[in-house]
Amino acid sequence: MSFAHAETPPPSGDMPTAKMLAASGTQVVGDQGEIPWSGVETDIRLVQLGRLFVSRAIEARIHKVLDATRRARTIYPEPRNVVVHGETGVGKTDIMKRYLAANPEYRRENGCIRRPVLYVDVRHSSTPKSVARSMLRSLGVEEGYCFGATAELTQRLKVQLVGQNVELVIMDEFHNTVTDNGAVKANRIAAWVKDLSKAKIRTGLLPDGQPEENIPFAMVGTERVLRIVEPTENPELASITPYDLAVDRYRYRTKAEIAEFRDFLDDLDQELPFDEFSDLGRAALADKLHIATFGLLRQVAVLITGAAELAILDGSDRIREPHLHDAMEDRHGLLQANLISAESQGSERRAVFNPFEKPILGTTSRRVRKSGHREAA
Ligand SMILES: Nc1ncnc2c1ncn2[C@@H]1O[C@H](COP(=O)(O)OP(=O)(O)OP(=O)(O)O)[C@@H](O)[C@H]1O
Ligand SMILES: [Mg+2]
Repeated sequence: MSFAHAETPPPSGDMPTAKMLAASGTQVVGDQGEIPWSGVETDIRLVQLGRLFVSRAIEARIHKVLDATRRARTIYPEPRNVVVHGETGVGKTDIMKRYLAANPEYRRENGCIRRPVLYVDVRHSSTPKSVARSMLRSLGVEEGYCFGATAELTQRLKVQLVGQNVELVIMDEFHNTVTDNGAVKANRIAAWVKDLSKAKIRTGLLPDGQPEENIPFAMVGTERVLRIVEPTENPELASITPYDLAVDRYRYRTKAEIAEFRDFLDDLDQELPFDEFSDLGRAALADKLHIATFGLLRQVAVLITGAAELAILDGSDRIREPHLHDAMEDRHGLLQANLISAESQGSERRAVFNPFEKPILGTTSRRVRKSGHREAA
């Protein structure tokens, strides 16, 4: 069983570790050390719901590209930047946070901090100056040094980035730097990113500066982020941004897409703190889960964890359809996924309804092995 942030050091005390389970009188069983969840305290099972994580091919692909940009910075004369874009709730931030967790900052023997990856959320910053300030703060620079003119802050920032050995800057929520009618704003931020990424201190001895001064940027956000690297609008930044990675929601039109969503549900099911498999990926239920969530990960997580909470609290051995029904009733606001989706239009845009049946509890007692629909099919 894998948990969110598996690469990070063990999270603080609330994981159901073998020690905790032993203390609660529970034994770890099975070849892979499966946890007998029905014997685990409710609070610990609820904590596990906050850690649900399914490993996806897109995440591995993005992490590989980020590794490549870090390697490239000292090999090639110019940095190679990345844009990662996708609708709200498809899992972009989670992918970036796990990359950060896998490449944490540390102190060198001389006491100086080394920070291979700098992650900044620029949700509340829309100008070069405010982005520079957020970055300086994230680099641990004292508050008094986070003020000044843009040029001054930018120079200070570059010195800090190089001094802390930053190999990659991830700027999340980067679409906030572009307003709907903001071509001028987009151009300003694009020019600023290009300069910060490429700027070198050139001397007679080092006419091309030092390779460490190349700092690649990963610009992450909704589709609007693409405007910043639009070749006709910002050719210079576009020309040093070869990587364009889209994170998509789960679609549900072709056989392959349907199978992919069902596999995802199966994998999520494996992570749930129940001894029984809820069989979320079974065809009829997967259809309904897609209707309810539009294939957006945030919506899937909200619905499934909501249903799981109800199932844990009422002592059920797994999630059943009535739990999904009730979870959806309580969370209509969040689950109007088809309306939230920026690109949903026309036939895809439809009224929200609760697709789950509410049969009388206890009538659906079919037990399913914890192996999922793949083997069951
Ligand atoms: N790999 C995953 N496995 C399970 N759940 C996930 C996964 N990735 C994301 N989620 C769920 O989706 C939620 C939203 O993910 P995230 O915040 O990364 O989306 P986002 O694309 O950054 O959205 P926004 O554009 O609104 O910032 C997470 O809080 C989590 O509940
Ligand atoms: Mg995000």
